[in-house]
Amino acid sequence: MAKHNITLLPGDGIGPEITEAVQKILSAAAVDIHWEEHLAGKPAIEKHGDPLPNFVLESIKKNKVALKGPITTEVGKGFKSINVQLRKSLGLYASLRPAKTMPGVPTRYTNVDIIVVRENTEDLYSGIENEIAPGVIQASKIITRDASTKIALFAFKYAKDNGRKKVSAIHKANIMKLADGLFLTCCQEVAAKYPEIEYNEVIVDNCCMQLVMRPEQFDVMVLENLYGDIVSDLCAGLVGGLGVVPGANIGTDASLFEAVHGSAPDIAGQGLANPTALLLSAVMMLDHIGETKAAERIRNAVYRVLGEGKVLTKDLKGDATTGEFTDELIRYIIIK
Ligand code: NAI
Repeated sequence: MAKHNITLLPGDGIGPEITEAVQKILSAAAVDIHWEEHLAGKPAIEKHGDPLPNFVLESIKKNKVALKGPITTEVGKGFKSINVQLRKSLGLYASLRPAKTMPGVPTRYTNVDIIVVRENTEDLYSGIENEIAPGVIQASKIITRDASTKIALFAFKYAKDNGRKKVSAIHKANIMKLADGLFLTCCQEVAAKYPEIEYNEVIVDNCCMQLVMRPEQFDVMVLENLYGDIVSDLCAGLVGGLGVVPGANIGTDASLFEAVHGSAPDIAGQGLANPTALLLSAVMMLDHIGETKAAERIRNAVYRVLGEGKVLTKDLKGDATTGEFTDELIRYIIIK
């Protein structure tokens, strides 16, 4: 019997190519995983008549850990975002997005090391939208004491457990005095329980300017859902873009690890996709399930191959295919 049972959702577009690469690399690092593979999104509709069949959710609930490739969501029509459904159904309340400068990835700054903690379940993503009069749409922003306290606790605990020094709460409480005001009150209450961690508050627009000008001042950031969505992509841009940054959605009973980028239909099936972001998400997953040595080995191989700059995919200005890049990583993992 394998040591770990993990649900795998390869997704669509470039999803199957990059998940295959990641599976090969994890296997080269000798991590003993039984993958329970399921379709989701359009391929699941074609096969099962449902974009997110219940047995997929049951598989994740049973295994408590899932690795997911990107899933295409049509704009303005089609099925509801699978990502949002997964987060809601599995109670994945925290989105964790590290943005760290990597060797060999050209960026404006060399010293970015930010952890973005985004509340994943409420805010304007509650899906409550109404046409209250012809031509007038009302969208509701829901902020609760429970969810805000939970995400603040997650951010401070993460900071403490990982030797981080500071948590910044990002808000717009000068305008949304009640909603963002409640979020800040919850952050302040939690901050008081962690006197060893520095705490500050930054208004979201200023935060974006500060990130672009002096990103090194940020350590752990905690944000509501919408600000977190936007600011985490800004942070990804500071360290080389969506092709290289990992992500995790953490809940009390299950966790789902996925790249931040989408299904890249423009390059799907051409061997051009960069598997780094999904691979680093899988590395976060390995840390999460206690396979810290394998995680370190793979992380070092990624830094080394990127740092050398000889075998890189097209998005990083190289000419290697997904397969060649994967094989180069495996070479380092096996040599080690
Ligand atoms: P995208 O991230 O798929 O692509 C944006 C650009 O980045 C494209 O030029 C693409 O070729 C490139 N790119 C993305 N990942 C890459 C990789 N690993 N290697 C090399 N190049 C890469 O964003 P887009 O085009 O806005 O979305 C496409 C679809 O993906 C949409 O249906 C969207 O809803 C979905 N999506 C799914 C996500 C998920 O499942 N977590 C997240 C974001 C978008």
